Amino acid sequence: MTRILQVAGPDDPAIREAASLLCAGGLVAFPTETVYGLGADGLDPEAVARIYAAKGRPATNPVILHVDGLASARALTSRWPVEATALAERFWPGPLTLVLPASEQVPAIVRAGGPTVALRCPAHPVAQALIKAVGRPLAAPSANRSQHLSPTLAEHVASSLGEAVDLILDGGPTEAGLESTILDLSGARPRILRPGPVAPAELAALLGAVDLWKGAVKLGETQAAPGMAERHYAPRARLELVVPGSGLPANSARTAYVAFGQLPPLPDSIRGILLPLDAEAVGTRLFALLHELDDAGFECVVMERPPEDEAWMAVRDRLRRASAKESV
Ligand code: TXA
Ligand code: MG
Repeated sequence: MTRILQVAGPDDPAIREAASLLCAGGLVAFPTETVYGLGADGLDPEAVARIYAAKGRPATNPVILHVDGLASARALTSRWPVEATALAERFWPGPLTLVLPASEQVPAIVRAGGPTVALRCPAHPVAQALIKAVGRPLAAPSANRSQHLSPTLAEHVASSLGEAVDLILDGGPTEAGLESTILDLSGARPRILRPGPVAPAELAALLGAVDLWKGAVKLGETQAAPGMAERHYAPRARLELVVPGSGLPANSARTAYVAFGQLPPLPDSIRGILLPLDAEAVGTRLFALLHELDDAGFECVVMERPPEDEAWMAVRDRLRRASAKESV
């Protein structure tokens, strides 16, 4: 059985135990304010290699280093533009990841061989206490098998990674439920690589113009922007996105229908699930709901397309990837 320890707060003795495992090259899953991360000593290439093995993650996909603040982040870069200071002061600790040119200190495996490093200072008190106790940056991707749903509960980590993780710190459900916004500051113009809890308008308010990377790489292709596989975050059930009011699926066995704001009339054979018309609340619930539907054995999840406005961008991104076909 995978070991799971409840953590009540930053002073919990479980954090000291987790820190010694990490210092010895082990893997510890921990809560952040977005999703659970699978942590390893970010300056130890062998420990980071264990993350890749546990997740079944392709070596072409780099990992984020989690730090305790601006000074530690800066030390891991070879160039730190003024925008990075402004962003860190405004959004850290919090769900914003910055991609910057890496210093020589950052192991190649963290960068997947590339010239940049992704840095984030998480807001969760347990994550912060753990980074401080280890005294080094923690490499931590989401604590799930590659391509699968991200974990928002300790139990999700245990069922996805099992024995591959040495210890799971259980801090209860995560708050945001969707992964951090990733902003690339290494090019000529700031560019959002992954939409998340920090909205483009909030970044634009500070930076002026921000580009949004719209591409997606197909599975098996060399990754132009690493980790942006078109199919990602996928539940076991087939996920179909439909225009609200466009009719019900023909085959209704083991099917759930998810609507926003209002449920249409449904036959008894289809389980209706009503989500609020509130992007933040849906973000918090989304992965947990897909986990629950998988666990309950649903084969098909029909979900209405969420609204088109910016507030829903991160939810739309995850749903598009979760519903992408496997073979492309
Ligand atoms: O909220 C989060 O960001 C969570 C928590 C645990 O912090 N972490 C997370 O990590 O979502 P992961 O590995 O599941 O997703 C990180 C994404 C990947 O798509 C990866 O390709 C991208 O960040 N990434 C990492 N380093 C990068 C780099 N140097 N350049 C561009 N993208 C990078
Ligand atoms: Mg992930």
